[in-house]
Amino acid sequence: MSIIDRIPALVAAGEEAITAADTSDQLEEVRVRLLGRKAELPNMLRGVAALPHEQRGPVGRTANAARKALEAQIELKAAQLAEAELETRLARDRVDVTLPADPRPAIGRLHLITQTRREIEDVFLGLGYSIAAGPEVERVYYNFDALNFTETHPSRMLTDTFYIEPAGDVLDPQTRLLRVHTSPGQVRCMESQAPPIYVILPGRVYRPDADATHTPQFHQIEGLAVDEDITLADLKGTLLAFARAIFGSDREIRLRPHFFPFTEPSLEVDVSCFACNDGVTADGERCSLCKGTAWIEVLGCGMVDPNVLAAVRRPGYDPEKVQGFAFGMGVERIAMLKHGISDLRVLYDNDVRFLEQF
Ligand code: DAH
Repeated sequence: MSIIDRIPALVAAGEEAITAADTSDQLEEVRVRLLGRKAELPNMLRGVAALPHEQRGPVGRTANAARKALEAQIELKAAQLAEAELETRLARDRVDVTLPADPRPAIGRLHLITQTRREIEDVFLGLGYSIAAGPEVERVYYNFDALNFTETHPSRMLTDTFYIEPAGDVLDPQTRLLRVHTSPGQVRCMESQAPPIYVILPGRVYRPDADATHTPQFHQIEGLAVDEDITLADLKGTLLAFARAIFGSDREIRLRPHFFPFTEPSLEVDVSCFACNDGVTADGERCSLCKGTAWIEVLGCGMVDPNVLAAVRRPGYDPEKVQGFAFGMGVERIAMLKHGISDLRVLYDNDVRFLEQF
């Protein structure tokens, strides 16, 4: 048998081996076996010169064509295997970046005061109110004068208010202080826009007090509605909606006469206790939350005093034409009542074992 007759068998065997290769590594072995230095086909090509003259051309051409055909098939197969192997690797190594990390990183949470403030804000946003803010460093004018505080009101004393300018005349309307309440925002709000106004003003306030129920800095949310034909019934309905949204749909409220310089009449609002039945707990004990009274004081409110409307330096606040109501509440107080916290200071210690509970 002539050497040239071996070639089809070599090619056939080679093709079979190429087809059978399942991995790039196997294919590389096949390549070495078929086309490597010791393989039969390359040897044949190297030996062409030693052949009888008339065989050189046909053997050389056929063997060369066979080598090229095998090379081309190996190249094709190599590309197929590489692609398949890449696919497998990608599928195996896929990382779902939307999955939580393992272990979950501690991402923290909103502080209970922030959660409570936002909860209250949501209630009033739902009632159509907008949210505004006034400065924490205020003037005597907005903190006291425009709110109808008399010159002798005890809150004006150096012991009851943080004045920014110690040498300043505490009766000078321009003297700066840390606001003792969010109520000055009422006046600023009215000066900045015409009625009707439905706004709440959350923010920090400051007083020189420190004990289990007072910190020198705390948070209030002020509310103000000014419109035509506003009555005390509107105030009561609004606060009932608030109390039910925050303390539960079964709540009732009651209003008690009180005094604030900037409202007339002024009232304090109690919400029916949510921890007991008429002052008595389920185990027949006197309720510690409401002290057995069945009611819990939650905020102060009233009808905006005509003197406050008259102090607004902007037309549109004629007390003969518009009326309003206002209310103010402590955010910490609401949070403490809701969650049964007895010492205000834990809200500011920032011990994560406490904060993580909310
Ligand atoms: N400013 C009062 C305080 O700090 C709270 C308050 C009471 C606000 C009655 C009001 C109100 O708007 O009408 O104690």
